[in-house]
Amino acid sequence: MPISLAVLEQVIREAGSIALTHFKDLKHLEVTKKSPRDLVTEADVAVEVFLQEALSRHYPQYGFWGEESGQSANQSSRWIVDPIDGTHSFSRGQYFWAISVALEIDGELIFGAVYAPALDDYYAAEKGKGAWKNGEAIRVSKESSLADAMVATGFACLRSYLQENNLARFCRIAEVTTGQRRFGSAALDLCLVADGQVDAFWEQELNLYDVAAGALIAAEAGATLTDFKGNSGVFPKQILVTNGKILSQILPLM
Ligand code: IPD
Ligand code: CA
Ligand code: CA
Repeated sequence: MPISLAVLEQVIREAGSIALTHFKDLKHLEVTKKSPRDLVTEADVAVEVFLQEALSRHYPQYGFWGEESGQSANQSSRWIVDPIDGTHSFSRGQYFWAISVALEIDGELIFGAVYAPALDDYYAAEKGKGAWKNGEAIRVSKESSLADAMVATGFACLRSYLQENNLARFCRIAEVTTGQRRFGSAALDLCLVADGQVDAFWEQELNLYDVAAGALIAAEAGATLTDFKGNSGVFPKQILVTNGKILSQILPLM
């Protein structure tokens, strides 16, 4: 059964209003630590419970994989959901967090949506049909000089206490670029590349639910998706997304 973009947007926006209810009452927000540097809140859980129920009601043939509840039986065709990407930011009242929903059928990403309720920005893409933000088509930037580029990254590696982390790589790249950002939501970072707001994003030690929707949105907007060696594909543990024009310049620094 084909999916309905309108039904999906309505469901995801409703999930956003659940998140915003908690966001507007942070002093009562229940926050727990999954690990020393990894939080989960009652908002994450409430949004995921809502999405699992609504998506399985509309599309009972698909399975579900959510960051907080894990994987259902059917994983060959599944929704891949991060209920709140950027939980740290959310818990501190910052605006840069998002709900990420992707549909993967037989290993192929065919739909992705990243909704930032506090910014009221809804990014979405369908395989082969382009990417859009708030209904308008989006494309990667035209920046062809790394020296003039703005880049974004994250430090999930530090959450995992990885020895081979991103700090030296960040310094190498920061020294030869114009702007550097750490926004706090990998899902939204990918959408900013798609929307031409930044020219490249990279991060280690992510999970598929962090990047599935944003990767499709970026690819449909003309981005390259590789690992740090330049192999094409979606590699959550080593993801590099660029506007394509600066890929050859940034790869030697990865
Ligand atoms: C996190 C965000 C952050 C990234 C972390 C992710 P979460 O997602 O995407 O930008 O650096 O590694 O875990 O934990 O808030 O869903
Ligand atoms: Ca996440
Ligand atoms: Ca999350």
